[in-house]
Amino acid sequence: MIRCVSCGEEFPDDEIIYTCPKCGSILEAVPDFDVDKSIFDGRRQNVWKYKECIPVDENKIVSLDEGGTPFVHCDKLGDELGVDLYVKVEGSNPTGSFKDRGMTVGMTKAMELGVHTVGCASTGNTSASLAAYAARGGLRCIVFLPQGKVALGKLAQAMFHGAEVFSIDGNFDEALKAMTQLAREKHLYLLNSINPFRLEGQKTIGYEIVNDLGWKSPDRIILPVGNAGNISAIWKGISEFYNAGFIKDLPMMTGIQAEGAAPIAHAFRKHSMKMEPVENPETIATAIRIGAPVSSIKALHAIYDSDGYCETVSDDQILDAQKYLARTEGIGVEPASAASIAGLRKLVDDGVVEKGEKVVCVVTGHVLKDPDTAIKASVEPTKVSADIDTLRDLIVNKH
Ligand code: F0G
Repeated sequence: MIRCVSCGEEFPDDEIIYTCPKCGSILEAVPDFDVDKSIFDGRRQNVWKYKECIPVDENKIVSLDEGGTPFVHCDKLGDELGVDLYVKVEGSNPTGSFKDRGMTVGMTKAMELGVHTVGCASTGNTSASLAAYAARGGLRCIVFLPQGKVALGKLAQAMFHGAEVFSIDGNFDEALKAMTQLAREKHLYLLNSINPFRLEGQKTIGYEIVNDLGWKSPDRIILPVGNAGNISAIWKGISEFYNAGFIKDLPMMTGIQAEGAAPIAHAFRKHSMKMEPVENPETIATAIRIGAPVSSIKALHAIYDSDGYCETVSDDQILDAQKYLARTEGIGVEPASAASIAGLRKLVDDGVVEKGEKVVCVVTGHVLKDPDTAIKASVEPTKVSADIDTLRDLIVNKH
C-alpha cells in the first residue's frame, strides 16, 4: 500500500503516482511485516537482509549487493569532541553512495511494474546509481543534470554505465521539475526520492545502525540534508523497528545543510513546518545544492518528532571537516558528506550535542566522487628523478 503523508489517503502499490491525487502532498510506502528480529540473524549484511520489511516482489530483485556498509568507531575525533562517535560509511556502496540502497528497491519496483524507461534528475550520485542499476536491469535510463555543477566522478559514472545524459541549463530544482513532468506524462518511471520505494531501500541505513549497536538506538544520528529523502528514510526505518519492539529508544535526528542551500534549517529556526524554497542555492558541496527539497514535510516531521535539530555549516567548515576526517580517521568522503562531521563539531561547540552522547554520523558519498575538490585541497606531488641520493635527501631532510 502507498499512503499520503498529509491526508492519509491510501492507494494500491501498483498505481504509478508520485504525489497524492487528492491533496497533492507526498507519499510513503507502508510495509506490512510481522516477524521476530531473530530471523535476520546470520544473514548476509546487505539491504535484502531485511527483505520482509521491504514491500516489493523479492522474485524481481535487481541488486549489486548494496548495504552492509562499514560502521567505524572514531576514537580520535570522538575523544576530541567528547562524544562516542561512529561513522557509517555509505561511500562503500557499489557506486560509492547511499543512493544504491534506494536504487536496488526502486529498480526492483520498476521490474515489477514492467516499465521500459527510468529517469531521474540529479546533483550526481542519484544519476550514477540509477545508470548502474538500469544497466543491470536492462532498462533505458535518462538523467538530467544541472550544467557545470556535477562532480567529475559522478558524471563519469552516469555516462559510462550507458545512461542518456542531458546537461540542463538550470539548477537541480529546475531539472527535477522537468523530469517529474515527463514522468507524470508517463514517458518514464521516476526514480528520484519522491518515489516512495526509493526510501524503502534507504531506510535500511537506520535498520543497520540499530542492528550493529546490538538492537539499541544511538542518542543521535547526524547527516547531510539536500532533497531531504535520506533523513526521512532513516527515521522511517528506525521508527518501524521501534514500533515492532526491536529497540526501546529513538535517536534525535539531526540534519545539516550548507549555508547557501538551507531551506529546512530556516524552517526549523522558525519552529515551522513550512519550507520556503531558496531561489538560487549555492555551495561547494554540489550534492546538496538544492533549494526546494521535495521531502521537506517528511524531514521536518523526523526532526520535530525525534526531538532532533537542524543546523547549517559554511563551505569552509565543510572542507575543513572533509580534510580532517580523511587525515585523522582515514575516511575519505565527498564534501556533502563531511557536512555531518562539520555539523557535529558546530553542535558540540554550541552545546546542542552533549558530552558523552553516542553519535552516529552518516557520511554519504566517497571521496573519489569529487576528485577536483580533493586535489585542490592537497599539496601537489613533488616532481623528482628516480635518483636514490636525491630521493633519500628529500625524505630525510623533510623530518
Ligand atoms: N550526500 C550526498 C553525497 C548526496 O548525493 C545527497 C543527495 C545527499 C547527501 C542528500 O541526501 O537528498 O536525501 O537529503 N544527492 C541527490 C542526488 C540529490 O541527486 O544525487 P537527500
